[in-house]
Amino acid sequence: MADGLLERLAIASAQSPGVPVDLRESFAYPLPVRVICDYMGVDDRSSTLMRGPFEALLSVRTQGEAASAMASIRQVLGDLVAQRRREPGNDLTSRLVRARDDGDGFRSDEELIDNLLLLISAGHETTVNLICNAAYALLQRPDMLALVLDGTHTWARVVEESLRHTSPVRYALMRYATEDLVIADAHVRRGDAVIVGIAAAGYTPDEEGADTFDLSRADRSHVAFGSGIHRCLGAELARAEAEIALRRLFTRFPTMRLAKTPKALNSIALQGIDNLSVHLDTTV
Ligand code: HEM
Repeated sequence: MADGLLERLAIASAQSPGVPVDLRESFAYPLPVRVICDYMGVDDRSSTLMRGPFEALLSVRTQGEAASAMASIRQVLGDLVAQRRREPGNDLTSRLVRARDDGDGFRSDEELIDNLLLLISAGHETTVNLICNAAYALLQRPDMLALVLDGTHTWARVVEESLRHTSPVRYALMRYATEDLVIADAHVRRGDAVIVGIAAAGYTPDEEGADTFDLSRADRSHVAFGSGIHRCLGAELARAEAEIALRRLFTRFPTMRLAKTPKALNSIALQGIDNLSVHLDTTV
């Protein structure tokens, strides 16, 4: 998939020399979306129908917008469940529908649809931002990119350092404290609602250089995928996708360069950039 998308970019760029391409829109977005839609048996039409509502949901501006986005997505997923019930395929949705119908898991179609929504939405914007954030970091640091291309650092390390430095997800979902706690100087009482800022957790406050993207760091620990029983189910998939995407991208276009400075994504939930415009500098 990655090679196919890059081939199309190379052709488009050769046909319009000097015109930048937006890697977010034409590479980092379609790759993970196609992967998760393939797994789940979502066709291109349904995937396109859900794109706008997913973006609205994750940028969460008003409750009304969120509710209407949710209703549109649930409609598409309800149709998907009905279709897979009539004609099961080899996809995960068909298996989950079978589990529901065999009484093995879900108590209602609503619960099944909630889980489809979670899986499909989680596989959308998060990995897109991981790929963009990591590529943007390397494009700003040609010295580090050179060390990756010559094998000094691995692509896996690029992915981990990007997760630590620019966690694609800003906050874990809201929880309620089950006991009284004191964290640093914050007092949390049993029953309090808590939102943990996981994007900040990769930074040790008094550690010099923690806010710099640095592949030679010794401590690369982070909680970008959460922690405990609700740790991200798709973490290994996301890591694999990002590693493949970055390796293929920079191996194919090692001399590409930024065309403009992107803006931060307008989202309270996610951390990323709104575009990744580059000159590919290539011959087909
Ligand atoms: C870079 C990409 C990704 C990041 C940064 C990410 C991050 C997270 C985080 C932080 C959580 C925990 C939320 C919490 O505890 O409140 C989570 C949960 C989850 N993620 Fe991901 N995720 C990514 C990709 C994916 C993908 C590709 C999938 C689907 C295949 C996925 C499926 C899920 C699911 C199902 C949960 C809920 C697990 C549970 O509640 O038991 N994620 N993710």
